[in-house]
Amino acid sequence: MTNENDVADEIMCSCSGTTRGKIYDLYKQGLDIDGISQRTGIKTGCGGCEWDIEEFVKALKEIDPPS
Ligand code: FES
Repeated sequence: MTNENDVADEIMCSCSGTTRGKIYDLYKQGLDIDGISQRTGIKTGCGGCEWDIEEFVKALKEIDPPS
């Protein structure tokens, strides 16, 4: 069974070891994808996470717009 913490702990970028929860936290602090990348190293390795992370942040902007 999946709970909220399992989702937050899910690694979205294995090159940098960045979790979904970390990306969400930085998004909530007002960072865009480039800012999150500078902070965590997402998208700076193989680039394989790029599409997933862009879709995740796009979805966040729809369901949880920056205030
Ligand atoms: S999985 Fe994110 S850069 Fe490789």
